[in-house]
Amino acid sequence: MSLLRGRNREKNLTGELYGKYSFGNMYNELLSEEHIANIVNIIKNDFEIAGIIDKYSSLKIMDVGTGRQALAMALLGVKTVEHYDISKEHVNRFKKLLKKKKYSSLNILTRNLDLCKQELPKNKYDFVYLSGIVHHFSNTAKGLINCANAVKKYGLIWIYFYRSGTFKWFVNEMIRGLLSVEDIDRFFISSAINYANGNLSNPHTSQIMDDFFVPYINLYSPQQYITFMSKLGFELYSSSHSDPLSSVNHNKAHHSAVLVFKKNTNSVNAKDLGSLLQPNDEINQLDKKIYSDKETKDIIDIYNKLKEVVLNKKYDVIRYSTCLALHKIAAPQYYGEPALPPKRKELKILLENTYIYLNKVINK
Ligand SMILES: C[S@@+](CC[C@H](N)C(=O)[O-])C[C@H]1O[C@@H](n2cnc3c(N)ncnc32)[C@H](O)[C@@H]1O
Repeated sequence: MSLLRGRNREKNLTGELYGKYSFGNMYNELLSEEHIANIVNIIKNDFEIAGIIDKYSSLKIMDVGTGRQALAMALLGVKTVEHYDISKEHVNRFKKLLKKKKYSSLNILTRNLDLCKQELPKNKYDFVYLSGIVHHFSNTAKGLINCANAVKKYGLIWIYFYRSGTFKWFVNEMIRGLLSVEDIDRFFISSAINYANGNLSNPHTSQIMDDFFVPYINLYSPQQYITFMSKLGFELYSSSHSDPLSSVNHNKAHHSAVLVFKKNTNSVNAKDLGSLLQPNDEINQLDKKIYSDKETKDIIDIYNKLKEVVLNKKYDVIRYSTCLALHKIAAPQYYGEPALPPKRKELKILLENTYIYLNKVINK
């Protein structure tokens, strides 16, 4: 689902969002020595899942994001890391950090580019690490083909992606339906006031800005990714958090999953992909047709009724509060509670109460 109502789509809003509002709002903390030490452990664990723990020192790796994973991999001693990001701010900050004496001998290159628009070098990397990236592409198929081309034959691609059919994205899609990009600065400030006494550089604000305002959250099922990658000439090699594999499971499925694929071809075959992972192939989480239970369908009905009323500008305070309250239900893990079981009852009560309250105000 995209969120660029009322703003020029050509503008690099994804880069701007991450550079300034999310991750970028706490860049120094995310790349502090203490934080990087934690990321080193996460990367070791990811290398174990990918089956490369015994050989990473001989691997050429590609990474995308803030640079924190690239830095951790270089500190672990991989052969080379090439880092890319659409955010100029991330890349400039990362370049500056790498000039520090303690990092200056590391084998890392960093470059600002849009993976959906600029071609990567072909057949270059043994391991392409995409952690939380592909669902944010303006066109997931296009960006993923570019990354797949960059993998060497028998090399691996790590794809950690937001999963369709999970409770977090069901509720988050409700939030995004109540917002437009014009709200961005007000949420930046009000989330900081709410959760960090006005300090903009805090993790709640970072997460809220990401979930609410990133221009693209394209949601596909694990099976759609598996079919797509196998058509490109890759085999499924390893996975994590992908059980249950069913396309919808609000009770048990994790909001994100990892699939690791091995490239079995010299050149990627990008023909015959049809609409797979294209923007019109994404799954609308608020489409009643994808659910079989009455409760979820009823919740969607209440949400649609509320949405019609609350989008009126004079209810902005209520709209903002509703979005922040919905986020606690979508992602309780950010607020010190377990992500699952889903808070379905709370969701229903929140939507019903807000709707009833607004109707009372209107009828006064
Ligand atoms: C949710 S962040 C997570 C990144 C990484 N896991 C980390 O912790 O640094 C997503 C990243 O993907 C980058 N990104 C999104 N779309 C991109 C594109 N088309 N080309 C290059 N980078 C992109 C964003 O700028 C952002 O840094």
